[in-house]
Amino acid sequence: MDLGLKDRAFLVTGGSRGIGLATTRLLLEEGASVLVAARTQASLDRARQSLDDHPHVGFAACDLSAPEGGAIAVAAAVERFGTLDGVVNNAAAFSPEKGHPDRAAWLSLFELKLLGYESVVQAALPHVRDGGAFVNISGVAALRYWAGAPHVSVVNAAVQTLSAHYAAELADRRIRVNTVVPGATATDRYEARVAKISERDGLTPEQARARMDGAIPLGRAVDPTEIAAAIVFLLSDHSASTTGATIVVDGGTVAVPDAPGALESTPKRD
Ligand SMILES: NC(=O)c1ccc[n+]([C@@H]2O[C@H](COP(=O)([O-])OP(=O)(O)OC[C@H]3O[C@@H](n4cnc5c(N)ncnc54)[C@H](OP(=O)(O)O)[C@@H]3O)[C@@H](O)[C@H]2O)c1
Repeated sequence: MDLGLKDRAFLVTGGSRGIGLATTRLLLEEGASVLVAARTQASLDRARQSLDDHPHVGFAACDLSAPEGGAIAVAAAVERFGTLDGVVNNAAAFSPEKGHPDRAAWLSLFELKLLGYESVVQAALPHVRDGGAFVNISGVAALRYWAGAPHVSVVNAAVQTLSAHYAAELADRRIRVNTVVPGATATDRYEARVAKISERDGLTPEQARARMDGAIPLGRAVDPTEIAAAIVFLLSDHSASTTGATIVVDGGTVAVPDAPGALESTPKRD
């Protein structure tokens, strides 16, 4: 199916790794151009390499938890493309602190994942064409109990509320704003969790992975390309009547909360 994205221009935050990189790759395959914003130049350089120096991708290093982060990312996109057809708010950081999150942990997550998304939307709005699209990435912690990480649940729920707010505000410009909710996805953070369980419980990495996969009703972590497919659908005109909506891509984790070993999938702060 032709998604009709040829020659369109997008900003993908956190596009240097994981879900963001998979989204960037899919957009490029569809003939679109992408500005990838991420925290570190080293990560952007690795992404550039893995994308074979694709001519339709640009890069901007910026800290999206800083007040000026969104403006820097959007300015780089506008300098490169002139205008934007859509934005994917995806950048976030895994927080490995132990115990109940302290105030600093709440603040740093909210500064990056909520205020970072908000700053990108505000900076992008004058440059996103009427009929464009925003996709904000949340997480299953928004929809079910997530042991030891209330700040992760709350910030992801707030992302959905932010999407609903802007879906209403921007409907008159036919700009659509939707949320994608990934479940456990096979990115760097899944591998870090496999390593941690393996070390903590004296398991081989294969056994640790089998235990984590077993907690997901469909029996495996989501592949980043499966999240990217939902995101790119929501950026395309095939979803032209979809706004304020949420697509959950989680292997059934939310629908089947009492799947065998389900609590094993939660990032307990041990
Ligand atoms: N993976 C999962 O299992 C899962 C589950 C639920 C929800 N999600 C959500 O899905 C999204 C992507 O997750 P992922 O696992 O693909 O992430 P990831 O592989 O950890 O990559 C994170 C991306 O965000 C960038 N980033 C981090 N902090 C930043 C900052 N302060 N300023 C700018 N960029 C920053 C990183 O840049 P650097 O490379 O330079 O650090 C990187 O490009 C996140 O919103 C996450 O919460 C993921």
